[in-house]
Amino acid sequence: MPLASERRGQFDDEVTDDSRTRLLDSIEQRSREVLGGGPLRYFFAPGRVNLVGAHLDYSGGDVMPMAIDRGICVGIRPRADDRIRLWSVDQPSAVEVNGSDVGDFADPSWGWGSYPLGIWRRFCCDHGVRVGFDAVFAGDLAMASGLSSSAAIEVVTAIGLNTLHDVGLSPAEIADLAHRAENEFVGVRCGIMDQYASALGEPGKALWMRCQGPRWEHVPFDPAACEVLVMDTVRPRTLAASGFNERVEQCAEARRFLSERVRPEPHLASFSPADLESVKSSMDPLLYRRARHVVTEMERIATGAAALRAHDYAALGAQLDASHRSTAADYDVSCEELDVITDAARQCDAVFGARLTGAGFGGCAIALIGPGCRDVVEERVSQVFFDRFGVPPRFDLLRLGDGPGEVQR
Ligand code: GLA
Repeated sequence: MPLASERRGQFDDEVTDDSRTRLLDSIEQRSREVLGGGPLRYFFAPGRVNLVGAHLDYSGGDVMPMAIDRGICVGIRPRADDRIRLWSVDQPSAVEVNGSDVGDFADPSWGWGSYPLGIWRRFCCDHGVRVGFDAVFAGDLAMASGLSSSAAIEVVTAIGLNTLHDVGLSPAEIADLAHRAENEFVGVRCGIMDQYASALGEPGKALWMRCQGPRWEHVPFDPAACEVLVMDTVRPRTLAASGFNERVEQCAEARRFLSERVRPEPHLASFSPADLESVKSSMDPLLYRRARHVVTEMERIATGAAALRAHDYAALGAQLDASHRSTAADYDVSCEELDVITDAARQCDAVFGARLTGAGFGGCAIALIGPGCRDVVEERVSQVFFDRFGVPPRFDLLRLGDGPGEVQR
């Protein structure tokens, strides 16, 4: 095993101004090859980690995501006809389609292109945009790793089309449009967290959100007191195919059950642990466990948000640990790799807490760590993980970014 400091160069994990410039350069170069040059406008939207509040957004609960400095860039220009052509710098061929052939639902053959096409479809139906566009995408977020690459693609496309066509949507309206595209067009019944985190992200701040409403507030995160280390298990997951929609359905069923037996509520997260305990004996045990995660996670996020406001990162970290245990035991969205990597992190003195991030089922976890302790934590976690699975995990320390918007070249 190479040392953490040696490995870093190998994985090239640092996000710097240079790496953003490299992304934009790669878009420019690709666009010269496929579009023959010509002016493009450039936009960026970030990925996110969620500090605490796992799988609560679609049950009307509270969440606390934080936009990261990694994300998706696009170079985009409108066309005179309704053709839409999409390239990714990492993929050899384009996704090409006429706007008139883009209906209400994504075609599986479009792959990642379904995200931008779903956004275009909303601009077409809701804002009368009829012309197509050419776009080249590049990103420094691992796809499908739990850092919300899909929401970043949606949001960056929406910001681009909003600007090109002068539609005048606010960041929250962009997030809502992107969320609708993912739910209806792509068919993943996700909550609103990822699109809001990407569209409203501010550098160095977590977004505390009440998904009922929604209402939100930016809460400062103090990088001098705590750093966020992303730990990528390198185990892939596919959100749509991974049981996510099944969890959404189970929560809806649990809400219906509690609404009949306790009191009518439009959201599962509005029930208390005492409400749930009062019907435990008559409830399906699987639905009971799903609901127990939701109602107890609401308590953890309340405690976690208070801890963040007080900059008490040890108290916040304890909520991350408890959240991970609940998502693993009651919600069944963890996996061996995520359990091992978070356990290994917790063994380190410098770690305040650790949990999976995103939907789970593989992908990334996060650890809250003391500033300057990255090497020590990486060393220890890598060793344990490598001994167990024979592959090294990847790491990324979050840095303050620019938030979403247009990027000048
Ligand atoms: C995915 C979904 C989000 C949220 C998280 C789990 O990222 O897109 O809406 O449900 O999982 O917290």
